[in-house]
Amino acid sequence: MSEAGLSPLAQGISLPVEGEKYNSPGSIDVIRRAGDEAIVLLKNDDEVLPIKDERVAVFGRCQINTFFVGYGSGGDVKPTRKVSILDGIKSAGINYDTELARAYKAWCPDHIPDEGTWGKWPFSFPEMPVSDELMQAASDSCEKAVVVIGRAAGEDRDNTLTKGSFFLTDEEEALLEKVDKAFENVIVLLNIGGPIDFTWLKKYSNLKGLLIVWQLGQEMGHAVADVLTGRVSPSGHLAQTIAEKYDDYPSAAHFGDPDSNEYKEGVRVGYRGLKEALFPFGYGLSYTTFDTQVLDYKETAHTFEFRTEITNTGKRSGKGLVQLYATIPGYDFRTLVGYGKSDELAPGESEVILLPVKKVQVSIYDTDSESFVIQKGFYEFFIGDTPYDTTVKAGQATVTDDIVVQKCESITEGSEKLKERIHDRLPAPVETIVQEQISFDDVRAGKYSLDDFIAQMTPAELSDLSRGEGDMDSPNAIKGNAGVFGGITPALKKKDIPIINTSDGPSGLRVCRYSSLLPIGTAVASTWNRRLTEELYSSEADDMKHYGVDVLLGPGMNIQRNPLCGRNFEYYSEDPYLSGMTATAAVRGIQSKGAAACIKHFACNNQETNRYRNSSDVDEKTLREIYLKPFEIAIRESSPKCIMTSYNQINGVWAHYNYDLVKTVLRKEWGYEGLVMTDWWMQLADSPEFPGVKNNAYRIRAGVNILMPGALTRGDVGFVHDSDPENYLTLGELQENARYILNFILLR
Ligand code: GAL
Repeated sequence: MSEAGLSPLAQGISLPVEGEKYNSPGSIDVIRRAGDEAIVLLKNDDEVLPIKDERVAVFGRCQINTFFVGYGSGGDVKPTRKVSILDGIKSAGINYDTELARAYKAWCPDHIPDEGTWGKWPFSFPEMPVSDELMQAASDSCEKAVVVIGRAAGEDRDNTLTKGSFFLTDEEEALLEKVDKAFENVIVLLNIGGPIDFTWLKKYSNLKGLLIVWQLGQEMGHAVADVLTGRVSPSGHLAQTIAEKYDDYPSAAHFGDPDSNEYKEGVRVGYRGLKEALFPFGYGLSYTTFDTQVLDYKETAHTFEFRTEITNTGKRSGKGLVQLYATIPGYDFRTLVGYGKSDELAPGESEVILLPVKKVQVSIYDTDSESFVIQKGFYEFFIGDTPYDTTVKAGQATVTDDIVVQKCESITEGSEKLKERIHDRLPAPVETIVQEQISFDDVRAGKYSLDDFIAQMTPAELSDLSRGEGDMDSPNAIKGNAGVFGGITPALKKKDIPIINTSDGPSGLRVCRYSSLLPIGTAVASTWNRRLTEELYSSEADDMKHYGVDVLLGPGMNIQRNPLCGRNFEYYSEDPYLSGMTATAAVRGIQSKGAAACIKHFACNNQETNRYRNSSDVDEKTLREIYLKPFEIAIRESSPKCIMTSYNQINGVWAHYNYDLVKTVLRKEWGYEGLVMTDWWMQLADSPEFPGVKNNAYRIRAGVNILMPGALTRGDVGFVHDSDPENYLTLGELQENARYILNFILLR
């Protein structure tokens, strides 16, 4: 233990892998298929792809040092293998320039930069200079050139507007220029975790093929080769906008301030704030073509229902995507309200795809009435390949009067009203009525109620129950775990309360054992395939079952507000609906075998710079329609058993102290019954409403049930409680908090 007594894992140090080489049944196959469907084809001039039997020269050191995942807790996974892009090309039998490959294999091992330490990882690796002779030899013997460009960012590591991060390096540009001069058919593969700069694209006239191959986990090379050879037609579509240049992004001017960022763009995130884009949200080409018709459309009391038919009108088989966008009165942009991915369709084959749209999906938040409203007015629906594409009109509806669909309470109005709300809603204590000592097993057996059990718990026991054991990598769970809670003290153990263990992460278990490395979140979202997403994460649930992991700290699902955010690789999309529906499928997969998902980070964790302290300053309408919406969708559609509050402040109040975020929105408005935990450690603070209530007492008053990993050593103040709510947490609040925790343990 060093650095303030924290475990190596808590310091971000990856621990070595132990035990047998294990892949859960079917995981290798589903990881590869998810990779296949995540790849987005952005350009395919002269049908330069797929590669047939041409000889191919592969450039770029990331063909060997491929980025399989991003950095941080979401990337520290130890799979049994990692198939590089070159490995995949080789095993697919592509006719590639072995001399050139040999040169890269000789150069790379001597030029791997220091992997870096937590938060200081390399965004990119130095590029190998290619001599004129080597270039000449390659172009003499090969008809096509493939250039791999790699990038990674991560937790605590935002991208920067520098060469080697958001921009290409001089070496990369020099390489592209040389290749473009030496070859007539150039294909670029972007091995990235999120959008980079694309201004270089127009410089290279022979650049005919462009694929985003993302970071696809352990089977990456096979998935890339599947698409390059045409074994699979690309079917990925962008889950975020790729703008002409950085300054076009609506949030460009209000991102990255270490102290606070005002979300001045409001709801105009991504495509909502752009009239056009270099490659728009939803865009993605295939090796075949599709046509979509609307077979019929009907409106019911609570839905707009579309029956569509997608047909493969091309010469190769492939999977198609139907996207449905709605115009909403008062907005000058169209909004994604439905989508469906087809199965593999042979040329000429069709598939009917139903798109049921809940009317609440077109509701907007009305600040004056503090409610979600389906406004009176005219609504139109379009099937299109992007929000800008109104080729196929799918239907329309006229709403004759405003319809309030959810009454809310303003959560950004400040302290005085908040203080009243808290006071009025203090939970009553539970009286002890059973004298016989009750165990948790008695409650499980139905002999006594949970409240009978809670009533017998002392304030000290209630306090200990509301925090984790202390540090990560607890000796009471699988090595490499992220921490445990529940029966963490002798007194709680004596009551038969079990230990619950948690583990990262969204792309695979971060434990000291072999486990599957999945494609990154935004790649999974790029499949637009909910069934496949659920299947993929159920393979991670198999790993959890195999290693006895109770709670997965994932999926991460914050809105990708700005392309520089380091954790965008973990997250899904700029769009709330696609984010929420992808998270829903992920949660269903993770929870399909009894384990618990923990969606995160609630809320507005949209940058990593100064992540523990920066404040996301967001108006109420934007907060509810954009940043909270994906969490609301996932909660209503998949009942995640846990949710994790974010590190940052929201309008100056830390998420783990935010009564209105947790008790007003999550509990009261969304009816969430699951467990709320902090992100790892939390900032110390006094409640502005009740200055005597601080730190953990302040947290529990806000309704955040568990402090993880629990260390009280970070200067934390233990609990104080009394019946004086002005200055102390009340027993009723402690007991209500315990009820959520014990209910979670009961229902696990
Ligand atoms: C934090 C991260 C969380 C979770 C936690 C446990 O740094 O923000 O997403 O992974 O670590 O490792």
